[in-house]
Amino acid sequence: MDVRLARKLGFCFGVERAIETASRSLEQRGGDISSLGEIIHNRQVVEKLAAEGLHVIDDPDEATGTVLIRSHGEGPEVFEKLARRGVEIVDATCVLVKRAQHVVERLAREGYQVVVIGQAEHPEVKAVSAYAPDVVCVDTPEDLDRLPAGGKVGIVCQTTHSPEHFGGMVGRIVARGYPEVRIVNTLCQEVRDRQAAAVELAGEVDVMFVLGGKQSANTRQLAELCAERGVPTHHLEGWQDFAAEMVAGKTVAGVTAGASTPKWVIEEFVGNLRRHPPG
Ligand code: F3S
Repeated sequence: MDVRLARKLGFCFGVERAIETASRSLEQRGGDISSLGEIIHNRQVVEKLAAEGLHVIDDPDEATGTVLIRSHGEGPEVFEKLARRGVEIVDATCVLVKRAQHVVERLAREGYQVVVIGQAEHPEVKAVSAYAPDVVCVDTPEDLDRLPAGGKVGIVCQTTHSPEHFGGMVGRIVARGYPEVRIVNTLCQEVRDRQAAAVELAGEVDVMFVLGGKQSANTRQLAELCAERGVPTHHLEGWQDFAAEMVAGKTVAGVTAGASTPKWVIEEFVGNLRRHPPG
């Protein structure tokens, strides 16, 4: 089968750094460290690091020894709790997530009602929202009813959202007539590059494959954007999820992958698909 790859795909620098940090810490400490939540939304990577001694814990109260903070970051209370427990903290929060946290803190200090456009349950959004009191999190037009009626509003966005979604929500907030709206662009360029490359490729192929964890927000978003482009799109974790009927009647397939999808998952998928006969 003719298989084309998006010109930007796979690991972003934040995820790469988190994995490198985890591997280095495991090596230095001879294994046995904990990660607060899964290090990235990718089962294969989590399993590989677990075999090397990176255990996942869900509660800072369970922490002992050395604890890794993943690229999504954590709120200040979690850092305080870990410090009180006397554990060693290895902070692999992505620099762009750190920036969003600082922006939220500053906006609140300057008297803005902070609004985060993002999925309230996403770990990055939860952590960013923890840096100011009474943050309102909105992700759909229906959520806007939660906003206060007046006052000055400061807006940031989940790093992995698309500029279209951010812009659309900002427009709706502005239309509510606040006397002052401060917008800080906290979108991640790595994600935007992958989105633009995926949409471009989706326009040239008969079918798109988007590789990445089902929990990965940026992978799901890539799949949504490709599907919106009108091409049949499959979001798979890897070659094990592939079925021949996905390429029935197709000759050209496109492949992209989320920011937490390792290279070997992409290479295995592309190699196998290239050997697969056209549908
Ligand atoms: Fe950071 Fe962007 Fe990756 S925010 S973790 S570089 S997707």
